[in-house]
Amino acid sequence: MTTTTEQSLWLQDTPTTPDHPPLSGQHHARVAVIGAGIGGLTTAVLLQRHGVDVVIVEAGRVGAGASGNNTAKVTALQSTMYSTLERGHNAAVATGYAEAATAGVELVAALAEPIDCDLQRAPAATFAYTKDEHDTVRAEADAATRAGLPVEWAEKLDLPFPTYGAVRLPGQIVVHPAKYVRGLAAAFTAEGGRVFEHSRVRNVSVTAPYQVSTDEGAIRAEHVVVATHYPILDRGLFFARLEAQRSYCVAARLRSGTPPAELAISVGNPSWSFSRHGDHLIVGGQSHPAGERGVDFSRYTALADFAHRHFDVEEIRHRWSAQDPKAYDGLPMVGAYLPGTSRLWVATGFAKWGLAMGSVAGQVLADRIAGADNPHADLFSPHRASLRSAPALLQQNARVAKDLIGDRLVPPEAADTDDVPVDTARVLPDGQGKKGVYRDREGVVHAVSLRCTHLGCLLRFNGAERSWDCSCHGSRFDVDGAVLEGPATRPLSRRDP
Ligand code: FES
Repeated sequence: MTTTTEQSLWLQDTPTTPDHPPLSGQHHARVAVIGAGIGGLTTAVLLQRHGVDVVIVEAGRVGAGASGNNTAKVTALQSTMYSTLERGHNAAVATGYAEAATAGVELVAALAEPIDCDLQRAPAATFAYTKDEHDTVRAEADAATRAGLPVEWAEKLDLPFPTYGAVRLPGQIVVHPAKYVRGLAAAFTAEGGRVFEHSRVRNVSVTAPYQVSTDEGAIRAEHVVVATHYPILDRGLFFARLEAQRSYCVAARLRSGTPPAELAISVGNPSWSFSRHGDHLIVGGQSHPAGERGVDFSRYTALADFAHRHFDVEEIRHRWSAQDPKAYDGLPMVGAYLPGTSRLWVATGFAKWGLAMGSVAGQVLADRIAGADNPHADLFSPHRASLRSAPALLQQNARVAKDLIGDRLVPPEAADTDDVPVDTARVLPDGQGKKGVYRDREGVVHAVSLRCTHLGCLLRFNGAERSWDCSCHGSRFDVDGAVLEGPATRPLSRRDP
């Protein structure tokens, strides 16, 4: 009997002692980067090459967010991205995106060269798992070709089940993302860069020079880059333009020791995604909007069942999940945080393709801060007008408004803490409001306010991760109220059980 580790394959060997101290006292730098994931670290490393003094401040550990919880694919072929961009924007936007994504892939290849991070070139593929998906894949092949990618059509992939056509892009990358990101951090500090871990930023002053404050320290900086995945400062109203999606992965060791060659993803719903590392197959999918009702462990079971059904699985070794913000018009948002500002910056909206797109975002921000031109800056400007996507924006905010009001009307699920079974959560009355009560596997009860500390939406329990998640903008909290994901930066208040 083996136990599946509740941690990503990539984070299992994270050093237990932090590589970097927490922030304390007052520091000064030309640029403060908030977030030590792929976007923040790429920005910092490239700025350092321009001779710029940069400090990075990270709420948790280096690379422990989405950068260490993914399928390890660094690819310019991204499911149905190009047909979607042609429909939602136009062919020129799809072409610009293809150029940027390709630049992101090649930037990772270049930066990874001195880093021991198991980088390999591999073909990426978007494929039809059912006959019904064939036309969608064909349309993606045509759109990717028009966008300038050297894709090829494949009737068959290196997968142990029938497929119904695929578009394939050779020369993409699979990498150990945590080793890569930690390697970037090591290179950055070796050149004199400063990184602070376990230091959650609570506030950034409104005008430059900015004061970036944590509980124990602060950084004074002329420029600030918010690379927190989901932007933590409400002043840019990003929360009204982004939707957070959760997705899940399992890593299975195969008896054959040889996972499929292609980094493949199917186009249907559900979508199945495959990647590899050594003798491990990674299966991803089961996406849903953050904070959805009724999320439970079946998300993982579905992935594990699929792996057992189709592959020679010896054991499922790891499982993990991640959350990714996607902009209402499908393009990353990289550039000035507010219209007219040139010292407060943001990189977000990578829509699950952050290893490639977060890297090119780092190049865009480093160039802009250093005063250099960047060919992708206009395409990803956070303040672009995407008129064809306006209905999606309205729909998204209407849903948030509905959740904000509707959840308040939902009656409590139990009257008393005694009614909460083991390893289960219930919503209980709490004076005029509601509290969330979870009884853990040892029988200990954890109770918190269910009012999200971001903008006050009511939280829902996520049974797959045992967390309280917000459907409005994706903040997540553990059962004792600590922040797991922003935009929230403050914990939930504890309640008496
Ligand atoms: Fe915005 Fe919860 S994340 S209200």
